[in-house]
Amino acid sequence: MIEKAASYLKIHLPEDRMPKIGMILGSGLGILADFIKEPIIIDYKDIPGFPQTTVDGHAGKLVFGNYQGQWVLAMQGRFHYYEGKDIFEVVFPVRVMNLLGIKILIITNAAGGINESFQPGDLMLITDHINMSGVNPLRGKNFDLFGPRFPDMSYAYDIELREIAMREAEKLKIPLKSGVYAMMQGPSFETPAEIRMLRILGADAVGMSTVPEVITAVHGKMRVLGISCITNMAAGILEQPLTHEEVLKTAEHTKVKFMKLIEAVVSAI
Ligand code: HPA
Repeated sequence: MIEKAASYLKIHLPEDRMPKIGMILGSGLGILADFIKEPIIIDYKDIPGFPQTTVDGHAGKLVFGNYQGQWVLAMQGRFHYYEGKDIFEVVFPVRVMNLLGIKILIITNAAGGINESFQPGDLMLITDHINMSGVNPLRGKNFDLFGPRFPDMSYAYDIELREIAMREAEKLKIPLKSGVYAMMQGPSFETPAEIRMLRILGADAVGMSTVPEVITAVHGKMRVLGISCITNMAAGILEQPLTHEEVLKTAEHTKVKFMKLIEAVVSAI
């Protein structure tokens, strides 16, 4: 199915516009895809074998085109494990990107801040992750075509891409924190006790995405850049309940800064 989907896309893309960078955009940042020039837009529903979005009114689309001088492929609408999707569906687009020859994956998300020096609205460069989701997308028969049975995760978040991001953030005077992202399965937010546990384990931020895609990308030898938008302080840190509305509101307020940084990074790659 992955090969079928990739072949379908290759037929619909001019050879001189094959994307070099893939982008999976988290809450609030999907709008970035609207700034892609000379776009070729393909609905998930038209791609053989491609998973479908479950949220009403959010048509899933792949947007191919030029962004900051680079040929890119952005996913508008991503898949979460908590939606009830099979983990192989969650990472299917990453496999397809791999077969299209994409070598760099930029992935963003909304996350709760565990590190108490963070504030809502901060951006955090992901330096490493802790997979607390209980699933691994590489379970089952290994696809030798993509990578080895036991792939190394020591350098999952590419050091050179992290340096570019830090340099560009500094140039733009956008404060960029860095830290470890822990993935919980969701969809319930964590309890305060779980957040204390994650802090002891070394996590700086927590979210419900990204880790499966990153594991899959690294398996396929893609270089990954991950950035979180800290949309809220994690449960139990502030004396207030957590809401999805707060997450969306902070993501919305942060998107201009976030987009500027991604723009600069893509043009510097
Ligand atoms: N927890 C898990 N996922 C999240 C959070 C959180 O606090 N904020 C945004 N995504």
